[in-house]
Amino acid sequence: MAMRLQDGSKSLGPKGGRSPLRRHLHGLLTVGLALAGTALYVVSQRSSREGVILSGKEVSRCGKIEPIVPSFKKSVDLILHDAEFKRSSVEKLSKAIQIPTEIWDVNPEPADDPEWYAHFYEFHRFLEQTFPLVHERLTREKVNELGLLYTWEGSEPELKPVLFMAHQDVVPVNKETWDDWEYPPFSGHYDEKSDLVWGRGSNDCKNLLIAELEAIEQLLLDGYQPKRSVILSFGFDEESSGPLGARHLAAFLEDRYGRDGIFSIIDEGFGVLPIDEGLFVASPITAEKGYVDVVVTVNGKGGHSSVPPDHTTIGVASDLITVLEDNPFGPDFELDNPLFSLLTCAAEHSKRLPKDLRKHILRAPKNKASRKMLEKFLSSDVRFRDLIRTTRAVDVFNGGIKANALPEVSTFVVNHRIDIHSSVEETVAADAYFAEKIAKKYGYGFARNGEFSIPETELGYIDVKVAKALEPAPVSPTSGAAWDILAGTIQDVFENGVFAGRDDAELYVSTTLMPANTDTRYYWNLTKNIYRFVASILDASTFETIHSVNESIKASSHLSAIAFIYEYIVNVDENA
Ligand SMILES: *[C@@H]1O[C@H](CO)[C@@H](O)[C@H](O)[C@H]1NC(C)=O
Ligand SMILES: *[C@@H]1O[C@H](CO)[C@@H](O)[C@H](O)[C@H]1NC(C)=O
Ligand SMILES: [Zn+2]
Repeated sequence: MAMRLQDGSKSLGPKGGRSPLRRHLHGLLTVGLALAGTALYVVSQRSSREGVILSGKEVSRCGKIEPIVPSFKKSVDLILHDAEFKRSSVEKLSKAIQIPTEIWDVNPEPADDPEWYAHFYEFHRFLEQTFPLVHERLTREKVNELGLLYTWEGSEPELKPVLFMAHQDVVPVNKETWDDWEYPPFSGHYDEKSDLVWGRGSNDCKNLLIAELEAIEQLLLDGYQPKRSVILSFGFDEESSGPLGARHLAAFLEDRYGRDGIFSIIDEGFGVLPIDEGLFVASPITAEKGYVDVVVTVNGKGGHSSVPPDHTTIGVASDLITVLEDNPFGPDFELDNPLFSLLTCAAEHSKRLPKDLRKHILRAPKNKASRKMLEKFLSSDVRFRDLIRTTRAVDVFNGGIKANALPEVSTFVVNHRIDIHSSVEETVAADAYFAEKIAKKYGYGFARNGEFSIPETELGYIDVKVAKALEPAPVSPTSGAAWDILAGTIQDVFENGVFAGRDDAELYVSTTLMPANTDTRYYWNLTKNIYRFVASILDASTFETIHSVNESIKASSHLSAIAFIYEYIVNVDENA
């Protein structure tokens, strides 16, 4: 996934910084442990959960979902439990990691510079060799040279296809950090003891790309013929927002299948969270926050610094920045926030939540005061507050060029991640409101997108413009066939597969949201059923390493992801 950090840079340092995204993911991960920021409750190893902890009056909103067991599941056991399958699977992932498909912030059109993309061509050859049946039986098309589009023709072409996404590119590895890796970043080393496969892309997201191909290769080997066409769509610049890959692929698909022409989309995203002893919550991402960069320019007059005005453009801009920072967006917690579903599962099934918090989560659907309390709690915790509000961060500032010349122009960029209930317009309007106030205070004119509401004065004017914007993603449904099949398949893969023979492990299915975006940003027109989910158990260390040093994935987590895709394809055929 692409983590667009607030400073606009990728986290390449040894620790990668505490990026908002990592902080958020980590927050979710510890949801059952430290939700209130209080010390951990020490849970005795013997404590087994005694089912749902609801009182008689409360209705369960995170009940156990009925697993959907596909009638065709020939290789699911093999995928999950066979040593030879695992060995060969690890080898495939490992070799994929060894091809360093790094992508940079700015990249040329592939047709203009094949050399730049040499590793991607090598990656394509590797896929051809590694998945012979896929390449024999599916149609492969290349969109904008390097975007990979595979189509497995279904026997009933009038049915809408299912679409799996992933991206071929990885974030670069900072050369200075190579020595900090336990195993080199492009080694793809597998360590049997920890069961970890190491390297850049092991988690983001060669794992998913390889899992999708491997599931289909296995279905082909097993003689499966889908009713519904199955499509794979792999961009190659997701980590720089997908303008060359996903944007073209999505347009190509919309051209071919039309608006709403796809049954469902599965892309990278979140996985299965262990939130308590033996308690797992699968959390597909059903919403993404929006994004806007607002450029504010204070246009003043130049002149010699020996006869300055009371406030230079830098002073005016600074005052405005202070005002913006002192007036953050308020929280807007509502029950349709996907986070609430995860909190509900924690409240119903985990024993570690502080009692008060649990009570408010369970009562929130019916009780306004509890909703308010919950909002207050979430907004007071840095791990959660940005999931229920629009953020504002001034990330770039330029003003002045010389010590003895007045700065004619001062300009700064305000980056926002927009709450799912808000919009680009509402966000920009909030900045403009404060900018206009400051313009009045200092006797400047004011313009938004070049339209003046206060004419330019002899001092100058402040101008507010949008540089780059994306509305919050439409929230994917959590009812209806597409959701039911997704949730039922997840339940089956874990309950009857990964946890088979264990009676100390329970899995529930919830949702969550993302403060960043995947390549799905370009795919909204194809279906409303977009689920960002990899069927892997996420452990705490995972999030410390995505985009950073020591990126690695448990081989067992990779196998469950393969099993999920295998079952999902069959389940959609049999249930939709
Ligand atoms: C990477 O892992 C190695 C071995 O576990 C450890 O010594 C090193 O500190 C880790 N690097 C970072 C930056 O966490
Ligand atoms: C979706 O369709 C609308 C209307 O045709 C279009 O304006 C928009 O650009 C499309 N979105 C994407 C992401 O292609
Ligand atoms: Zn990714």
